[in-house]
Amino acid sequence: MKVLAALGRVARRFSAERPADHGGQEAEGSPRPERQHQPPPFQNLPPIADLARGQGFVVLDESWLERSLADYIREDTWALPSPADREGYAPGRDYDYWLSGLKDYLAVKRLLRRHGVSLDAGTRILDFGCASGRVLRHFDAHEKGHALWACDVNPRHVSWVSSFLGPSIRVFPNAASPSLPVEDDHFALVYAFSVFTHIDEWELGWLAEVRRVLKPGGLAYLTILSDRTWRSQKPGCDLYDQLFRKSLVGGPPITPELFAREMPAGKVVFALENARAGEATLFHSLQHVRDVWGRFFEVVEVVPEGHDYQDVVLLRK
Ligand SMILES: C[S@@+](CC[C@H](N)C(=O)[O-])C[C@H]1O[C@@H](n2cnc3c(N)ncnc32)[C@H](O)[C@@H]1O
Repeated sequence: MKVLAALGRVARRFSAERPADHGGQEAEGSPRPERQHQPPPFQNLPPIADLARGQGFVVLDESWLERSLADYIREDTWALPSPADREGYAPGRDYDYWLSGLKDYLAVKRLLRRHGVSLDAGTRILDFGCASGRVLRHFDAHEKGHALWACDVNPRHVSWVSSFLGPSIRVFPNAASPSLPVEDDHFALVYAFSVFTHIDEWELGWLAEVRRVLKPGGLAYLTILSDRTWRSQKPGCDLYDQLFRKSLVGGPPITPELFAREMPAGKVVFALENARAGEATLFHSLQHVRDVWGRFFEVVEVVPEGHDYQDVVLLRK
């Protein structure tokens, strides 16, 4: 917990409440501190009750709902992050952003239930690569008594979650290299939406770390861009167009012919020029998941398009 408290202090340094520079307030003669780059302030949106209007683009199967949609809306009283803090999820479509998180939260519960696992009160859950809590906010708003933990390599996201979601969430910034300040065998569930689609060099280390913090029998719910996703790529698809526009280094050139052929390797990395940790885009073939990820976990199930165009891989320690 001490580590978490220290990390929490680091997170708070980036918080929205951070006071502005006190220009000209230093004692005479003291060296003027170097002006540091200030992250832009958060421009939050109101809670979803004020934004949920009309039909969203995100299609939510009503049979997934455990109560009425109006109840879910009423239960989530937290502010929404602005599109700038949403990692590209539904820019300008705030209701869809919220619905996509609700859908993923319900999808986790459904898949676990199918494998005989229910998330009872007291269950310890980690959202790995939580960003500004798109999915986490639903566990927070609609479940009672879970121990929710969350982390992200981007301290701005950690600051957002610690400032604007529920105070009982234990959120901390993690390093790009695989280590979490958490004891062994801790969580019943670790979920990571669209995170292993961005981890390049440290993939195996992070798989080992997720395994370490899971209890025996615990589940990892990870999403990937699979060989099925690969084959579906063509001009006009969001992902294809994003990759085409980016300044990529090292990977094969983005052409329709590339995706018309099988993946050239079990894992294909599209790396960005001058990228920071977590900015590559990776595809994993299901064979790679079985052969390589299967050394760390039992591969329980793969759900095609379980998260938009990404597949869900459910793994058991
Ligand atoms: C595409 S976003 C998905 C965010 C969130 N999981 C969601 O579904 O809304 C990927 C997130 O993973 C984070 N990330 C990438 N590499 C990471 C790592 N090694 N450890 C923790 N977070 C990481 C990024 O900072 C970013 O917030």
